[in-house]
Amino acid sequence: MNKVIETLLEHRSIRKFNEKQLTKEQIEIIVKSAQSASTSSFVQAYSMIGIKDPQKKKMLAKLAGDQPYVEKNGHFFLFCADLYRHECIGERANLDFSETLESTEKFMVAVIDATLAAQNAAVAAESMGLGICYIGGIRNNLNEVSQLLNLPNKVVPLFGLAVGEPDHMPEKKPRLPIKQVYFEEEYIINKEVTYSHLDEYDEMISEYYQSRTKSSRSETWSNQIEKKMSNPVRLYVKDYLKKQGFPLK
Ligand SMILES: Cc1cc2nc3c(=O)[nH]c(=O)nc-3n(C[C@H](O)[C@H](O)[C@H](O)COP(=O)(O)O)c2cc1C
Repeated sequence: MNKVIETLLEHRSIRKFNEKQLTKEQIEIIVKSAQSASTSSFVQAYSMIGIKDPQKKKMLAKLAGDQPYVEKNGHFFLFCADLYRHECIGERANLDFSETLESTEKFMVAVIDATLAAQNAAVAAESMGLGICYIGGIRNNLNEVSQLLNLPNKVVPLFGLAVGEPDHMPEKKPRLPIKQVYFEEEYIINKEVTYSHLDEYDEMISEYYQSRTKSSRSETWSNQIEKKMSNPVRLYVKDYLKKQGFPLK
């Protein structure tokens, strides 16, 4: 097994970091790695904002639902879908790009670009022995986050990435068995098969929690999904997107 695959297979989210801050060189390597990801039609429709200021980190941690590792880490990156510079190109050339920039398709392109860049950043950091945790919690308060970081129209914060030297090493979380997520030639639509696959995975996850928490938690994956999907969250995102210049046609 090569080193890249070893790094990928060793991933777990890290939620406790020591105090050591990333060096300028480490940050640069991570950003360059992010930028090396493929990008739809070369549009490079994303930006990253690095947050070092302890006061800003503290505020972000609060806005992200009081997650302490947003404040205490070696560096915090915010990944944004970004079509601002594309809008600038249009304005400079006296061209009206609005129909393109406001399309659902272009918004998806920007989200995909940003996500690919972020995962490259995450793998780069992990390959350097650092730990990472994505932070979707920043979408709890998009207006406040946008204001805090001075985001212009056509820029949407998607998630943060806390990076730093791990101060704990949690167990890896078992993923769905391959046969449940990888189909060949066509999708298998068969509820009996799906249910039996779910039973199999539920047992695995329940055992995982029991072994981790010395049997105080025996939740299955289906239990978690039942709870999550019964409680819709962040329904204001659609309005936020409209306000930020993405009416999504
Ligand atoms: C886009 C995204 C947002 C996430 N947001 C959070 C978050 O706000 N807080 C957190 O503790 N973990 C967050 N996570 C981490 C997931 O909970 C984690 O990846 C998942 O439970 C699997 O665990 P593992 O990464 O340790 O394998 C996020 C992951 C992704 C991909």
